[in-house]
Amino acid sequence: MGKEENSLPDNSSAAYHTPVLLNEVLEYLNIKKDGIYVDCTFGGGGHSKAILEKLEEKGKLIAFDQDEDARKNVPDDQRVLFIPHNFRHLQRFLRLHSISQVDGVLADLGVSSHQFDEAGRGFSTRFNADMDMRMDQRQELTAFNILNTYLEQQLHKLFEQYGEVTNAKTLAKTIVAARKTTSLQSIDAFKNALHGIVKGNPAKYFAQVFQALRIEVNDELGALKELLNQIPLIIKPGGRVAIITFHSFNPSGSTSFTNSLCLLLYKTSPFTVLYSYCNSFSSLVVRLIPLFSLSA
Ligand SMILES: C[S@@+](CC[C@H](N)C(=O)[O-])C[C@H]1O[C@@H](n2cnc3c(N)ncnc32)[C@H](O)[C@@H]1O
Repeated sequence: MGKEENSLPDNSSAAYHTPVLLNEVLEYLNIKKDGIYVDCTFGGGGHSKAILEKLEEKGKLIAFDQDEDARKNVPDDQRVLFIPHNFRHLQRFLRLHSISQVDGVLADLGVSSHQFDEAGRGFSTRFNADMDMRMDQRQELTAFNILNTYLEQQLHKLFEQYGEVTNAKTLAKTIVAARKTTSLQSIDAFKNALHGIVKGNPAKYFAQVFQALRIEVNDELGALKELLNQIPLIIKPGGRVAIITFHSFNPSGSTSFTNSLCLLLYKTSPFTVLYSYCNSFSSLVVRLIPLFSLSA
């Protein structure tokens, strides 16, 4: 689960990320000691470490993270296979390693504390840096590219859908007007350009705006959709799937912005929800079901 911004930078590896809902995840993944598990979002490796503690010698953990920085947290452990790529390629990489089915999958969606705290990554409204926000620094699309090239309508839609920004239309219009005369390359320049249209609490407003850009830069819903489409193909009968999200998932976009902490766990059928820990659970399910249905 991606953290919201509330702490000062800390370069120790322990501060990379603190895993959330650790006990819940372990309980519901119901780890088999010789099973094969996938951690789609390795990050600081907190969840992976706990899974490894439950696995014996024959067990295996496949850990994905598209951020090269996560590699430094990978333990020297022969049971671990680190895949520095997007989890949207899950099935392809499993095949490459001659794995057809797995016992469990975990995805802890969003950004790590490390990504927020590294000023130069451009995820945080606390620092001045380039408007970057790429989890995978090999990709070309940055937040600045979006601000600079997207049509007004595209900007409007993404701020409305991914940030629930109440004045998304005005925001899009302001960006398109500002970019004609100013470079929006830096966080400060971008925030200054929006100075006159911020609604309500500025910290909250910019958090919504940055969340929307981050989701678009990293195609977070596209990657999740591809992952969810592949899970039924690679999960063993009786296998378990845990998905943690901190996104705001309000399909109607009609209520105010609230981040929702959600844990969805599936057993075999992706629609059998075992447990939920979420304050807008039904809206998240509404949002996820079309993602599944698209592949049907
Ligand atoms: C919330 S953190 C996960 C923290 C981890 N559970 C832990 O215990 O430290 C999310 C991580 O997933 C990675 N990530 C997000 N989306 C991804 C994707 N589509 N493919 C691969 N990695 C992704 C991010 O780079 C980040 O390191």
